[in-house]
Amino acid sequence: MFIDTHCHLEDENFSVDRAEVLKRAKLAGVEAIINFGSTLQSSIAVAELAKNFSELYAGVGIHPEEIDAFDEKTCAKLAELATDKKVIAIGEIGLDYHWEKDSQRRMIQQKVFIEQLDLARQLNLPVCVHDRDAHGDTLKILQTEAKNLRGVLHCYSGSLETAREVWKLGWFIGVDGPLTFKNSAKLPEVVKAAPRDMILIETDAPYLAPVPFRGKRNEPAYVVEVAKKLAEVRVETLEEIAAYTTANAKNLYKIS
Ligand code: NI
Repeated sequence: MFIDTHCHLEDENFSVDRAEVLKRAKLAGVEAIINFGSTLQSSIAVAELAKNFSELYAGVGIHPEEIDAFDEKTCAKLAELATDKKVIAIGEIGLDYHWEKDSQRRMIQQKVFIEQLDLARQLNLPVCVHDRDAHGDTLKILQTEAKNLRGVLHCYSGSLETAREVWKLGWFIGVDGPLTFKNSAKLPEVVKAAPRDMILIETDAPYLAPVPFRGKRNEPAYVVEVAKKLAEVRVETLEEIAAYTTANAKNLYKIS
């Protein structure tokens, strides 16, 4: 059995056939799926979905590209959503310097990131972090502002050196479709070196479909393709990958 630890099934791409997508996930052996919000609206939507389907869980948070909507009221609303049992994480939050080049606005991203880390600490919830082209500042913030917090750098794209620092903090790396791409760069080297108890698998659906579905809409059933590639790179069996990545997800997100 597998757990897709990061996706976005509230996305309108799934509005027509969401039930079919969930059925295919179950058939593929995906026993649980965690959807993450990126705005207040999508956070409300993923929390609602989790209420309606037993295999779905939710994370709530404001994505670094959506920081303009973040204020005290938003923060209070996220906290209110998190009182639901099926809301098990804060995310996705973090830094995105790929789309944001302005240094002033990057500072605001950092501030909003740190405020949501504080929220996670108050609520005693794990954190799912988005880090795109911001590895240095993300690591610095985790080292200084994430005391007593646990979490994952989702869709990990940093160096092995950075990954080792992340593991030192007891944080996980999330691996998805890009591992199966021909141009996966340093990712195979990173996952090969990763301790068993520091890896999660995910799809980030509807984005980043793994080979052989690359370019198509992604969905949770395809997390198996990520697991297969992980098995190949780490020279382990698919059963081993399934067993420990599922145990890791249950451990981090306290899913029973
Ligand atoms: Ni995502």
